[in-house]
Amino acid sequence: MIGGMSNAAYPLSRPRRNRHDAFTRRLVQEHRLHVDNLIWPIFVCEGENQRQKVDSMPGAERVSVDNVVEHVRQAVDLGIPAVAIFPVTPMSVRDATGTEALNPDNLMCRASRTIKEAFPDLGIIGDVALDPYTDHGHDGVIENGRILNDASVEILRQQALNQARAGNDIIAPSDMMDGRVKAIRETLDGNGYDTTRIMAYTAKYASAFYGPFRDALGSGSLLHGDKKTYQMDPANSDEAMREVEQDLREGADMIMVKPGMPYLDIIRRVRERFEVPTFAYQVSGEYAMLMGAIQNGWLDRDRTIMESLMAFKRAGCNGILTYFALDAARLLRSER
Ligand code: PBG
Repeated sequence: MIGGMSNAAYPLSRPRRNRHDAFTRRLVQEHRLHVDNLIWPIFVCEGENQRQKVDSMPGAERVSVDNVVEHVRQAVDLGIPAVAIFPVTPMSVRDATGTEALNPDNLMCRASRTIKEAFPDLGIIGDVALDPYTDHGHDGVIENGRILNDASVEILRQQALNQARAGNDIIAPSDMMDGRVKAIRETLDGNGYDTTRIMAYTAKYASAFYGPFRDALGSGSLLHGDKKTYQMDPANSDEAMREVEQDLREGADMIMVKPGMPYLDIIRRVRERFEVPTFAYQVSGEYAMLMGAIQNGWLDRDRTIMESLMAFKRAGCNGILTYFALDAARLLRSER
């Protein structure tokens, strides 16, 4: 035996035997995708009876709060455990410090309350960051062209509390300010929300793959410059380990890596080193890229979706935030 492996060589060893037929392939399959692994990100907008298409994300929609129950019902019917809400905040209520993030009646809070009332058992994840609410599209507050860390954290902790009060079960800070997990944990605990979970966008990279999402939210055209002083450099991997360690110390319950497919190596390292619940976000740009090829007939839709999601399981993910959640859940149903 060499390292737990049989040292038999061809022709005694024939790896193809285990691929010989479908039942054997089923028996030896190492990883499985399950509906429980899927989180569906949704976009909510103002207005009545709205269902707006997002040009750069074919198949994705922005829906108004009066349509949100019907929209989310699709996920509930398929058995998807949780949705992540992203609000399309109108320009008229955006300002320099993202004040609207603290409004108990903002779009996110109204959507959350509405969804919670209709589906009390569905998990609701709320993104915490100021970019949907600022008139400059950054995730924090700015002074003399710099994104201020501690002043932003003061707002983010209140934003998290505002969301917890509206019914969000999981707070997902995506802002990448230092110390925000600790501040949010303390604020939640201090207000009786000690069971509200924190899924930290821990290793969030300054990525070009968020472009379509920024289109969907209308923050892309507002943003001047980039987010490199707070989001991570795509060249770094050890730094992600330090971020994970810090977020766990500060009270994060779950860790996220984002984007997904280009960062599978980071997911694997996080999983092996920390052995904590690990999630990935298959972001808007990954979705757009795959959908573009699928719509051109260059890639097979169903197989591409499932293979892309299986990659996350193999890398070590517990779950995946994906705009393909409904499609994947339907495909998993039809496989059974
Ligand atoms: C907000 C946020 C972003 C995404 C999730 N939360 C965009 C950004 O940081 O600019 C991206 C999601 C996607 O691309 O699908 N901080």
